[in-house]
Amino acid sequence: MSLFDNLFRRKSVHDAINAARDEDIHGGGGLEKNLGVRDLTSLGIAAIIGAGIFSTIGSASYNGGPAVVLLFIFTAVACGFAAFAYAEFASLLPVSGSAYTYSYVAFGEVVAWIIGWALVMEYAVGNITVAVSWSGYFTSLCESAGWHIPAWATTDYISARDGFESASALLKGGASLSDLTQAQREYFEAWNTAHSAGGLRIILDIPAIVMSILITGLVYVGIKESKNAGNAMVILKLIVVLAVIVVGVWYVDVDNWHPFAPNGFAGVMAGVSSVFFAYIGFDALSTTAEECKDPQRDLPRAMVYSIIICTILYIIIALVLTGIVNYKELDVNDPLAYVFDRINLKWFSGIIAVSAVVAMAGVFLVFQLGQPRIWMTMSRDGLMPKRFSYIHPKYRTPTFATIMTGVFVVVPMLIIPSDTVLDLCSMGTLFAFVLVCGGVLRMQLQPDAPRGKFRTPYFNSKYVFPLMLAAAATWLFTTRRDATIGWITNERQSYPVEEILSRATTQELDFTAALLRAKDPAGMNAAGDGLAAYLDGLAPGDYKATIAGLPIAESSRYESGWDLFRHKIPMWLFTITCLALAAGAFRYSLSLIPVLGLVSCFYMMAQIPAKSWAGFFIWLAAGLVFYFSYGYKNSRLASKN
Ligand code: ALA
Repeated sequence: MSLFDNLFRRKSVHDAINAARDEDIHGGGGLEKNLGVRDLTSLGIAAIIGAGIFSTIGSASYNGGPAVVLLFIFTAVACGFAAFAYAEFASLLPVSGSAYTYSYVAFGEVVAWIIGWALVMEYAVGNITVAVSWSGYFTSLCESAGWHIPAWATTDYISARDGFESASALLKGGASLSDLTQAQREYFEAWNTAHSAGGLRIILDIPAIVMSILITGLVYVGIKESKNAGNAMVILKLIVVLAVIVVGVWYVDVDNWHPFAPNGFAGVMAGVSSVFFAYIGFDALSTTAEECKDPQRDLPRAMVYSIIICTILYIIIALVLTGIVNYKELDVNDPLAYVFDRINLKWFSGIIAVSAVVAMAGVFLVFQLGQPRIWMTMSRDGLMPKRFSYIHPKYRTPTFATIMTGVFVVVPMLIIPSDTVLDLCSMGTLFAFVLVCGGVLRMQLQPDAPRGKFRTPYFNSKYVFPLMLAAAATWLFTTRRDATIGWITNERQSYPVEEILSRATTQELDFTAALLRAKDPAGMNAAGDGLAAYLDGLAPGDYKATIAGLPIAESSRYESGWDLFRHKIPMWLFTITCLALAAGAFRYSLSLIPVLGLVSCFYMMAQIPAKSWAGFFIWLAAGLVFYFSYGYKNSRLASKN
C-alpha cells in the first residue's frame, strides 16, 4: 500500500460499531436504550450551559455592547447547521467516539487523528477556560466573605503582563486608575504586587490550579456519580439563569442599551470565541447515540431544541446584563454575580456566586472525564500509546489518560493567557464541526457510501449558494465600498487608542493633549482632560479623522504592510474557501445545509485572531509529528494490511 493509501485507510462502519460494543467504557454488551427526546434535550442543556454564560459572556458584552445578542443568534444558527451533520453521523454510527470516529469512517485515519488531536483543544483546553472562570467566581465569593486573595494569585503571567502594559498606556494618556476596567485594574495590581523569584514575577491562578488538581484526583479514583454530575446540575444551572433573568429584568435601564453596538461590527465579532464557547457541548449529545430509544428521530430534535432553548436564555441574559449596567463594566470574570453586587443586591449576588462555583465545577468534571475517554478510544485503535487505555484494576478508570488530562489543563494554564486559551478551544471545536459538515458532503458524493437512517434535509445549493455569495459581495461593494476596497488593497489602518498611547513618546502625547485642548476644549473637558478618554469616546469616523491630524509619528498611529496583512490571512482563507465551495456547489449540486454549516464555522474561525491560528496550527503540526512517529506504525489498521 502507498503512503497515501495508508494515511487515508478507513474504518468500516461495521468495525466502528463492533469495536464500540466490545470495548466501550460502559462495559460492553449493549447499553440500555432508554433516552427519549426530553432526556436528550435536558442532557444537551446540561452540556451547553457553563462557563460561557456564567463568565465569558462578560468580555463579549464588553467588546460588543448590547449588540452581542446578534452574535448569539448567528452562532446558534451556525451550530444548528452543524447539529444536522452530527445527527446524520450519529445515526450512521451510534458510537461514543463522536467526531473522531465519524472522520475515521468518512475520511480515513490521518483526518481522524487530526480530529482526535484537535478535540484535546475542546476538552482539556476548554477546561482551562472553565477553571479560570470558576476561579473568578470563587475569588469574588472569598472577597465577599472578607478573605482577599491577592491579584497575583488569581491570574496568569502573560495576561497580567499585557494587561499591565495596556493599563500603563492609558495612564500615560491621562486616565486615572478609576477610569480603567476592573480587569485592567486587577492586572495592573497583579503585576505591581507580585513577588519575584530569579527575576521572574510569580503570577499564577492558584484557585484554578488547585481546583483542577482536586477534580482530576476525583476523576482518577472514579467516583460513581461523576458521569451524572453534569446532568444533575442542569436544574441548578437553569434555576440560576432563570433567577438572573426574573430578578434582573426589574433593574434594567433601557438607556444602557444605547448605543446598541458601541464598537461596531468589529466589536461584536471580537466576542466570537466567547460566544461560541457558550454553545459548545451540544455535539457531546451525539456520544449518547447508543443509549437512545430512537436516535434517528430524537437526536437531531434534541440537539436543535437544546440549542434553541439556550439561545433564548442567552439572548435574554445578555440583554439583562447590558441593561443593568453599562457594557463597559462587564469585562469581569463573574458578570452574573457582579451586576447584582453593583446594584447592591449582595445577598443575591452571593447566591449566584455559590451556585456558579458548584455548577462550573460540575462542567469541569464532565470535560475532565471526556478527554481521557477520547484518548482511550484512540489508544485502542493503536493511534496513542497503550498506556492511554490502561484501566486501573482497583478504580476501574483510565488512570494514565486521566493524569495526562490533568497535566494538559494545569501546565498550559501557567503559560498561555486565558483569552488565547479560549480562542484555541473554539478553534479546535470549530475545526471538528467543519470536518463533520465536510464529512456529510463527502458521503453525499459517494452514492455507495453507507448511510444512516437520518439524513440532513436536502436543498440543492447549486444556484442558491453562489447567489448568496454574489449578494454578499454586492452588499460589501455598495454599502461598505471604501472599507472593502481599503481592506483588499491593504490600506493602512489606525491603531486602537491603547496601542497609539503606548507607542507615542510622552512629549508627543503632551503636544497632542495641548492641540486637542485648543481645538475642542469642551470635548477635552468632558473627558476630564484625559487623552485616553477623549480618543476612546470618538465615533469611528471622527476617530479616523482625528488620528490623521495628530502630532505623533506615523508608525505609532498606523499599522500597515505585512504587520497589517497578517491579521487578514484567516479572512483571506475564508474568502478563498467560499469561492471554492461555490464552485463545488455548482458542479456537484451539494446539499445546502452542510455547505452553510461549513461556511458559518469557517467564518467564525476567520474572526479568531491570527496569533491563535498560529498556535492552533503549531499544535496540529506537533500532532502530525506524533502521528508519523507512533500512530502510523502502530495503528490497528496497519496490522490488518
Ligand atoms: N458551553 C460550555 C460552557 O459554556 C462549554 O461551559
